[in-house]
Amino acid sequence: MSKIIAANFKMHGDVDFYSSWLKKFELPKQNTVLFAPPYLYFDCFLKDERNLLVMSQDVSDEEIGPFTSQISAKMLNEIGVEFSLIGHSETRDKMGFTNKNVFQKFLSLRANRITPIICVGESKDYRDGGKHFGFLEEQLSFYKAESKTGLIFAYEPVWSIGTGILPKSSEIFEVVEFIKSYFDFKIKVLYGGSVNASNAKDLLRIKNLDGLLVGGASLKAEEFAMIAGS
Ligand code: PGA
Repeated sequence: MSKIIAANFKMHGDVDFYSSWLKKFELPKQNTVLFAPPYLYFDCFLKDERNLLVMSQDVSDEEIGPFTSQISAKMLNEIGVEFSLIGHSETRDKMGFTNKNVFQKFLSLRANRITPIICVGESKDYRDGGKHFGFLEEQLSFYKAESKTGLIFAYEPVWSIGTGILPKSSEIFEVVEFIKSYFDFKIKVLYGGSVNASNAKDLLRIKNLDGLLVGGASLKAEEFAMIAGS
């Protein structure tokens, strides 16, 4: 079945990097592939003749006003962005976004017809202390009463992001099951954290998983193409 494979380029690259990346990247047919470059390089992807799906790495929780540096969901929609990450742990940590802020971003994206991908995931302390389900439940609770269509989460354990440490497949399965059973309607869950071309196939064999969110390994076009074609 078709999966969602998303590239989160974070704060990497420049115009030359993205134009040569796109030349090298072969788009697979079997999966839905999303591209999240920094805002300044959206155009490289939006102008690509292959009709690539562009994803924002974040969005403001405000609609309009004196919010220096922020980009609104309406602005993203206007230029053709169709997806947005929200609640990535790097934004929660560095910018202090709370669950409430992230939910506000969700509402704003929804109102502007952009599909949110909500990042959730526990730190090492919560995992080691066996408190990860409680932590996740708090992150999920905001969405319990949401409309039944198009809810997508990315489970990204903070201890796995950029560390090369991968949870066991059984641990991922268990958390994905937990997230899915929390809702009484169908949702999608992606996994993110140290995904690369060597582990993508095995990860995609996890039965309840709907796709992957890829950070570091998306920077090499050939490697990301292999993951996206898994
Ligand atoms: P990583 O990052 O693949 O480099 O671990 C994933 C992410 O932060 O989305």
